[in-house]
Amino acid sequence: MNVALLPGDGIGPEVTAAAREVLAALAPDLALEEHLFGGAAILETGSPLPPQTLAACERADAVLLGAVGLPQFDAAEVRPEQGLLGLRKALGVYANLRPARRGEVDLLVVRELVGGLYYGPKGTREDGTVFDTMEYHPIQVERIARRAFELARTRRGLVSSVDKANVLETSRLWRRVVTETAADYPDVRLEHVLVDTAAMQLVLEPGRFDVIVTENTFGDILSDEAAAVTGGLGLAASASVGDDGPGIFEPVHGSAPDIAGRGVANPAAMLLSVALLLEHGLGRPGPARTLEAAVDRAVADAPTADLGGTATTEGFTASVLAGLT
Ligand code: IPM
Ligand code: MG
Repeated sequence: MNVALLPGDGIGPEVTAAAREVLAALAPDLALEEHLFGGAAILETGSPLPPQTLAACERADAVLLGAVGLPQFDAAEVRPEQGLLGLRKALGVYANLRPARRGEVDLLVVRELVGGLYYGPKGTREDGTVFDTMEYHPIQVERIARRAFELARTRRGLVSSVDKANVLETSRLWRRVVTETAADYPDVRLEHVLVDTAAMQLVLEPGRFDVIVTENTFGDILSDEAAAVTGGLGLAASASVGDDGPGIFEPVHGSAPDIAGRGVANPAAMLLSVALLLEHGLGRPGPARTLEAAVDRAVADAPTADLGGTATTEGFTASVLAGLT
């Protein structure tokens, strides 16, 4: 089996190096191939997702991604983030799963990943007005809803569908299709929550949620919030999957250019993404559990600076490797 590694920008290469070491220890049979992606790829080839990189990802059994984005591209026409959006679309990974756990809180954000505002028509009119548009087709809503209901069945059986149906047409479609789809899952409870209310409840009472299903932009925002209330972006992992083909596994955090190159980035979110890759990308739940337990112990014993400790990226990775036995 073969995993495409896309280290990307900023701290991406540092946390990807940690992932490489852990994969070598837990799955020595895997072929790991690194490819250019994001800002690094723009600098070398002019494109954030060069054709060779896309072809390698399409051939791989799973894709492990570091992070993209560099301040030098903030105002540029060609941006690293376009590579990420393009790769998600090309691989058809419409379901982005972002688990958040701590103490009494155990929730899963299921974010629609290849539609909505980030992919709709955008542009500039003659009078200088700039626009982005949010569009959803019923099929896009139904397939992500099914994913959420199926996942809720394996958990506590509650789906909270988040929308802004009091204002947006796309949200009224979302609510109707989710409600219709729910008829096939009578064993799962469904509630509808407006996005502003959901944002507040996530802070005040995060333990009430099980599965949160929502469209792309709301999910982008709420998943960072869910990460923050359960230990921060340093621990937030994600899996993006479609119906077939390779999934993309990546930490929720960005490229953190402010701390890049100093060897202090927290690789925990990346290593937990490796656990998701082992389980959901390669069907190897055993090593996934071993890795999660080792990361939990390393976080408790010797965390990095973002979690109040003094461990370096390498030191933290060494603790995880030592805990794999
Ligand atoms: C994320 C990131 C990306 C997104 C950006 C970098 C395009 O914020 O994975 O949440 O919004 O999807
Ligand atoms: Mg985000």
